[in-house]
Amino acid sequence: MKPLVIAHRGNSAHRPENTLASFASALEIGATWLELDVQLTKDGQVIVLHDATLDRTTSGSGPAAALTLQQVRALSAGYPSRFGEAFSGERVPLLSEALAMARGRAKVLVEIKHDSVTDDERADGIEARTLQEIRKAGASAEVAILSFDHRALVRCARMAPEIARGHLFYRAGIAEAVAATLAVGAEIVMPEKGMLNEEMRQRAIEAGLKLATWVVDDPADLPGLAALGVYGFGTNRPGEMLEALDDLPD
Ligand code: G3P
Ligand code: CA
Repeated sequence: MKPLVIAHRGNSAHRPENTLASFASALEIGATWLELDVQLTKDGQVIVLHDATLDRTTSGSGPAAALTLQQVRALSAGYPSRFGEAFSGERVPLLSEALAMARGRAKVLVEIKHDSVTDDERADGIEARTLQEIRKAGASAEVAILSFDHRALVRCARMAPEIARGHLFYRAGIAEAVAATLAVGAEIVMPEKGMLNEEMRQRAIEAGLKLATWVVDDPADLPGLAALGVYGFGTNRPGEMLEALDDLPD
């Protein structure tokens, strides 16, 4: 089977990452999976933002967690250093807005960033708040929670066992990665593409796990991914990769 294209932060090579413009563009070009990152504001709202700080992609600065939603919403999320003023009207989305946009059109991988994960489990922590928003949106069957943070996945497994999980890894041992994924009852093991090899493929199969990866933006990598039985891959260029996949033999 051909691997699934996961629009990483939306159509993020062509639109400001993690904005509604980026997700809308990915959906328009036919992506059936979106990936996004969530953080918490000072007043506990679940926003879609990759970095803990606002500096790189918005017109603001400092930690997002130091601002209320109203303050965050006053900023542009148009990634001015990369896109100039072209998308200055974009705002940092709420998770609920992104889920509403994807509803019925695409599944969503929601990555809980470790910046917002606290040492102690909290009723108003990023895990609990994210799961609440997913349930409120009626999106439990359309979503998988991702994280590098094992604690976050343990908490999600306990609080919302019905919502699928995927464990992210960057430069980890393969056996350890598979064991950690199984330990949180996740169905997806998602190592960074540098970790992919035959052993990873074999161990994922033996464990009954779906194997996914990111970021793959070069069509030349597709035959290799297919040979490794990769289930899905995150890309910043979903349009180009969907076209390239069409040319790949079944
Ligand atoms: O989809 C997984 C991938 O997004 C993890 O890395 O830094 O892009 O969030 P990052
Ligand atoms: Ca991510």
